[in-house]
Amino acid sequence: MEIKADSRQFHEIECDALVVAVFEGEKPDAGALAEIDKRSNGVIASLVETGEFAGKSGESAYVHNPGDMKSRRLLLLGVGKKGEFTTDDARKMAGTAARKLRGKKARSFAILRRSQLPIGESAQAVTEGALISLFDPDRYHTSDKTENPLQTMILAVPGDDVGAVERAVERGRIIAEATNFARELINEPANVVTPTELARRAEGVAKEYGLEIDLLDEPRMKDLGMGAFLGVAQGSSEPAKIIVLTYSPKTDSKETIAIVGKGITFDTGGISIKPSDGMEKMKYDMAGGATTIGAMRAIAQLKPAVKVIGIVPATENMPGGRAQRPGDVVRAMTGKTIEVINTDAEGRLILADAVAYARKLGATKIVDLATLTGAVSIALGDVYVAILGANQAWIDQVLAASKKAGEKIWQLPLDKDYREQIKSEIADIKNVGGRKAGTITGAYFIREFVEDTPWAHLDIAGTAWNESAKPHLAVGPTGVCLRTLVNLVCG
Ligand code: BES
Ligand code: MN
Ligand code: ZN
Repeated sequence: MEIKADSRQFHEIECDALVVAVFEGEKPDAGALAEIDKRSNGVIASLVETGEFAGKSGESAYVHNPGDMKSRRLLLLGVGKKGEFTTDDARKMAGTAARKLRGKKARSFAILRRSQLPIGESAQAVTEGALISLFDPDRYHTSDKTENPLQTMILAVPGDDVGAVERAVERGRIIAEATNFARELINEPANVVTPTELARRAEGVAKEYGLEIDLLDEPRMKDLGMGAFLGVAQGSSEPAKIIVLTYSPKTDSKETIAIVGKGITFDTGGISIKPSDGMEKMKYDMAGGATTIGAMRAIAQLKPAVKVIGIVPATENMPGGRAQRPGDVVRAMTGKTIEVINTDAEGRLILADAVAYARKLGATKIVDLATLTGAVSIALGDVYVAILGANQAWIDQVLAASKKAGEKIWQLPLDKDYREQIKSEIADIKNVGGRKAGTITGAYFIREFVEDTPWAHLDIAGTAWNESAKPHLAVGPTGVCLRTLVNLVCG
């Protein structure tokens, strides 16, 4: 879909539909809303007066041949209270509009700027919202595919600086397309996206956008002493990979930020096998990895002044004849020994070696992203991502980036007292800490391998998959945290 900025008045813009946000309780008695009402024969006043439309969030009204304007249809979207309208509401509104109008066979639509949000921020959000909303996980439908007749979205920004809007649109497009790239990967079944295929797709990104790539195979991991990762990988006959993408800025950078994403292409649980009910969902256990690759793709295009490495430890977690057993002791790259109590707590095992490798590559700051624990859904549901870490300044930076991105992230305490729960009788540490505070003990385990490097851990197990279709978002992979990571790195 092409996205254009147009600074003319709304009624001069030719398009199939004009989209107008209406705030809760708003009457068409002033400004643009009054003008639209006048040109459309009082349709807004009438909708409001009958109580059919009050501008509440989620409400909509759709009118054909509204009248004296160059658009054939008018779509009113309720967006809630004016004082509470955020950039994220702008993003959702654009997504809702695009999905609704796609269903109405529209080829073009214009969104009228009505909020007081900074123009760049809001143009970027609207671009992201629309493009992200149009993604559907329908690659494997051979019939009844979702048709998308939409070709053009116009940002109607009367009186605004069109150049500034265009730059924001470009940034929004890069981020949205990277998000949809990640969602496509996450949605792929595990028989298609194996660790080898994930590596191949990362190579595609590296080639297309000019990143350096290094693919570690198992012999190299052995040489590096990555016993925690290899313990997980040994149960699968699919060769494991560690994918390393590097972005280097033109000028020297003293910081190196590492983004580390869990890349379990399928999690059966291993010998501590999961119940079969719902196990098919465990294809998304590589969401952190896919999102890392997607973020690197956007970073390569946005070209920040800081060096960034994306690291994706990729393997299946399978109960094969060579699989590791509960009770096995493995030695991680840092030299620490781990008692593997539960082979289903595999994410932290592969991340232990991946964060250690990030340090070896010179990372000065680490952020990891993982579908690590079911417990995070108990704590925060499917609304908030959990963040934990040992360096508050770095966590605050991630939180600030998430606010700008409109992604919800909540900090949980990584208190030293939780260390007790992962003490082992026979090794330095064990890989599970019991039922209590599962998200925290999972993060604590990883902490033991980052040592003193500033690090933040994002648990996306509750938020990486959208269980039911929303007006602005398809069922399936969300690509959550990609925008946060890109903001974190690119400012
Ligand atoms: N991949 C799972 C976590 C998960 C659960 C992701 C639900 C998405 C949805 C992870 O590897 C896992 O199995 N975690 C265990 C840890 C436990 C054994 C300590 C869990 O959460 O049950
Ligand atoms: Mn698991
Ligand atoms: Zn897992």
